[in-house]
Amino acid sequence: MSLVLVANRAPIRPTPDGWAPSLGGLASALLPVLEDRGGAWVAMRGPDEETPLTQTYPPETAAFTVRRVPLEEPEFEAFYQGMANRVLWPLSHYLVEHVEPDRSFRDAYRAVNRRFAHAALDVARTDLAAGREQPTFWVQDYHMMLVPETIRAGLPDARIGFFWHVPWPASEVFRILPSARDLLRGMLASDLVGFHTEGYAENFRESARDLLGAKVEGETITFEGHRCRAESHPIGIDVERFEGLAMAPGAAEMAAEIREDLGGVQIVLGVDRLDYTKGLLLRMEAFERFLELYPERHGEVSLVQIATPSRTGVPAYDQLKREMDEASGRINGRYAKGAWAPVRYRYQSFDQAELAAYYQAADVAFVTPLRDGMNLVAHEFAAVSAVCAERGGRPGALVLSELTGAADYLDGAFLVNPYDADGLARTLDTALDLPETERRARLSQMREAVRDLDVHVWAQRFLESLDAEGED
Ligand code: G6P
Repeated sequence: MSLVLVANRAPIRPTPDGWAPSLGGLASALLPVLEDRGGAWVAMRGPDEETPLTQTYPPETAAFTVRRVPLEEPEFEAFYQGMANRVLWPLSHYLVEHVEPDRSFRDAYRAVNRRFAHAALDVARTDLAAGREQPTFWVQDYHMMLVPETIRAGLPDARIGFFWHVPWPASEVFRILPSARDLLRGMLASDLVGFHTEGYAENFRESARDLLGAKVEGETITFEGHRCRAESHPIGIDVERFEGLAMAPGAAEMAAEIREDLGGVQIVLGVDRLDYTKGLLLRMEAFERFLELYPERHGEVSLVQIATPSRTGVPAYDQLKREMDEASGRINGRYAKGAWAPVRYRYQSFDQAELAAYYQAADVAFVTPLRDGMNLVAHEFAAVSAVCAERGGRPGALVLSELTGAADYLDGAFLVNPYDADGLARTLDTALDLPETERRARLSQMREAVRDLDVHVWAQRFLESLDAEGED
């Protein structure tokens, strides 16, 4: 059965010589599925984009269609910058102080979700009119909570999956939203809703029970006569791609160059979008604490923090940018000596080959989000570092926030509380001195988990569970 995906971001991007898959796991997992099954991907066209509204892809086979829903500036502001990024994103991550509910955000969100759903319905109706089977729908993430409801109203027997890529908070936190019930209703029109952990799925079922009085039996939620399952389907990375990057000719040299440029010190690495959920400021403070506690490390260790620009124009992101500039300046001003700088802060985007080189160069990956649905940087680091260690390179260690989905799966990591500066500093000290045999043992443990959660397997498992719907 063909597939209609609905996601805010498109799976392909324009390049100087045509089109290429978007970077990131979702596109790499789902493009092969779409090429195989056919169908469409419905995505947003932002106000500054000039991409076509409809195009087939790949150009040679035209296996599926990319349809874009064009948003004008005010709609984009209220739906994406507003409801998605100033309300749903912080709330899901328990950062209630960043939540700014606004009536106009809500209205725009509803209107834009309807347009996405109608674009998806159009694809299905065209299929049906041509005598083809009705496609399966798969809706992605917190931008699209109301889409299932509109699809269901248009095609009552549709098969609809939904995947929620961020944490689902405790019901008592979710209910803070004035539109909590409407949003839940919108999602419950799905047949299957997937989450990264059983804890998030459990929170979702509880929200449905507490806020809407839905009946919950095992994984199944029954609401107004419709059954929807909430299951855990943890996502991972494209393992083959990252292992390939680690083994690529020149990768080891690139890593050696990074180390040399930093003066041969030990490297503690952070890689994140510049986002307040990632715990970047607290991480900087923890590193400062580390320098206070361990003066003998001065000149011997640097924190390389890569922060890729994200959601610029949203006030909290712009503010964080200023605070990170200030924090890195403060720490370097206080401790830098000769050629050594304790913090190497890079507010830039890097391609995956460069990131893989940084992963390979790092002694410790310092992954300390305040909350994260999964956190794939942890997976990427473990995959790359494990391959390098296997090929005779230096194995790295992973320090990981216990408030991430990844902490449920990556047993070889050092788990930390990202709010505990002293704890982070001490764990960093331990991780930097970890004997090589233990690093290797921990990495091979993590590698198993990373392979089990491969993003292609994730997509396949979710779709199998969705396709099984109604077959009994
Ligand atoms: C998170 C979300 C995704 C989103 C990505 C990048 O991973 O779960 O849905 O696409 O962040 O954020 P952006 O706002 O640039 O799409």
